[in-house]
Amino acid sequence: MALNILFSASESDWRHYQPHLQSALAEHFIDAKISTLPNDPGAFDFVIWSPASPLQDFAPFTNLKAIFSLWAGVEKVVRNSSIKVPLCRMVDPGLTQGMVEWVCGQVLRHHLGLDRHILQQDGIWRHDNIPPLAKDRKIGILGLGELGGACAQALARLGFQVAGWSNSPKNVPLASSLTGPDGLETILAQSEILVLLLPLTPGTENIINKDSIAKMRRGAFLINAGRGALIDDNVLLKALESGQIAHATLDVFRQEPLPSNHPFWANAKITVTPHMAAETRPESSSHTIAGQIRRWLDGKPLQHTVNWSVGY
Ligand code: GLV
Repeated sequence: MALNILFSASESDWRHYQPHLQSALAEHFIDAKISTLPNDPGAFDFVIWSPASPLQDFAPFTNLKAIFSLWAGVEKVVRNSSIKVPLCRMVDPGLTQGMVEWVCGQVLRHHLGLDRHILQQDGIWRHDNIPPLAKDRKIGILGLGELGGACAQALARLGFQVAGWSNSPKNVPLASSLTGPDGLETILAQSEILVLLLPLTPGTENIINKDSIAKMRRGAFLINAGRGALIDDNVLLKALESGQIAHATLDVFRQEPLPSNHPFWANAKITVTPHMAAETRPESSSHTIAGQIRRWLDGKPLQHTVNWSVGY
């Protein structure tokens, strides 16, 4: 009998996903009907969900096997007590590659001091301040999961000295893995460029605060591709003013879209990008979802399920 799948995201998501999902399901030999409206909730086997979906109450979905998040970050759904089935984070090779490219681009921008030449093309031949090679540059990454781990590896392959900090120790080739409060102090103190790729949980909210910024290496660059609420915004503004932080490149914000009157927009030491560091790619993520359903049909455990106790 055909499986029933509810695709509950934005209309534009549906336009982009529909052809890829249908072909990915066919390639995995899955007979399924996909709906976009939850008219008969008890009939659905799986829900594909994004934060753009109005669906919050999963209690009527009495036959549900699992929910697949289209987003890697699940903070908007992880505390939903009506969910009684596994919730799978999106781990999408397209999203991971996009993040690697964006993070490497931003790191190289600051490592090479490109702004100086891009923003000041004024007839002055500034042949001073030649950047060190990557081997002499220390990069820190807070968050060594799917995305942070892939970025750590790519940066290490470029030759950077890379350290990562995470909840539990990770084995990332060529990068060192730090944990705990001591590990955090070490990475804050040594990183010339600090990249945030942590999930947002009660334990990581405002992890970049007055105390942690004071422990950072003076003049460090901060890159946030995780979640806006990892940073205390007012503390960041003060740290930029004092020179404790040289520049912040921010892709994520407490409120998105970032309101046009927000002080970040006008601050020359902040680069705002519109939550575009990494998008879930419909083609590759449709294969991920179809692969997950195939695993369920074959009696294998689903992958990337949320650990409710840690919140991601
Ligand atoms: C985007 O921010 C995501 O969580 O996938």
